[in-house]
Amino acid sequence: MGQKEKIYTILKEAEDVFSGEKISIMLGISRVSVWKHIKGMVRSGIPIISSPQGYYLTPDPDTLLPWEFGAWQDRIHYFQEISSTMDEATELARQGCPDFTVVIAERQTMGRGRMKRVWFSGDGGLYFTVVVRPSIPIMLASLVNLAAAVEMASLLRSSYNIQASLKWPNDILVDKSKICGVLSQMETEGDQVSHVRVGVGLNVNNNLDLEEVGAVSLKTLSGKHVPRKEILISFLNNFKKRLTVFNPESLIADWKSNNTTIGQHVHVSTLKKTVEGTAVDMDSLGGLILQIADGSRETVIHGDCFHN
Ligand code: BTN
Repeated sequence: MGQKEKIYTILKEAEDVFSGEKISIMLGISRVSVWKHIKGMVRSGIPIISSPQGYYLTPDPDTLLPWEFGAWQDRIHYFQEISSTMDEATELARQGCPDFTVVIAERQTMGRGRMKRVWFSGDGGLYFTVVVRPSIPIMLASLVNLAAAVEMASLLRSSYNIQASLKWPNDILVDKSKICGVLSQMETEGDQVSHVRVGVGLNVNNNLDLEEVGAVSLKTLSGKHVPRKEILISFLNNFKKRLTVFNPESLIADWKSNNTTIGQHVHVSTLKKTVEGTAVDMDSLGGLILQIADGSRETVIHGDCFHN
């Protein structure tokens, strides 16, 4: 345990003002060192108030500080504000970070979605990127983001009683409103996946701006503030389990059993073309099979899907 974590734990357990002198005795360091650590913690956004009587940690039931993540804490990289968690994850992945390294941010100034869209990332949402290193061939890589969406939707249903369903490829909707989006980027080594960066944006307690037409948050649906830490810990545990015993058939079966796309008349747009038809199935690699009006079938492997 580092000194900052020890100070955090002391102040959290104190639930009241705690003197700097007592901390210095408990940790065997000078009062000046205690003060320097606390100054650094305040600078990184930890709500500690200083007074002549000592230090007070303002309780924050929704904190996402790494020290709150138990066994996951060494993998968590936490930022108050960042351009995009995808950027930081890219740096870490290229430097060889371990499997299941997670970058979390309270706010993103340049959060992005699929198809080069902006992902509004105000306070209260859950924004994170997980770097995963599955031993799978490149052709199966798109199943990794499908797995993330399947696990998040399943968590929202089982733990929050939210009627979350999947829209191809990996949006999560409640009724017709979007509650979660997944963006993933991959790097390869030969014919194998080197790593996949799976970025997840979940509307939790954030206020949805007028720009975000058709979006909904967990807070609005449940009528109360929802702590984000539990969501993230459960998601990471379930996602890890899913990738450790990677079974494409059962993943696709799980996606199909809770999707809103199959059976719909859709059009799917990529940056180059649009295909229109009835979504009839998902193939073994996560592609969407469309029945076209002329009787032929076409499989789309990426793009934006609109339910007509
Ligand atoms: C989409 O539905 O278009 C995907 C949205 C993905 C948003 C998340 S938020 C965390 C991570 N960082 C980003 O900049 N984007 C992803």
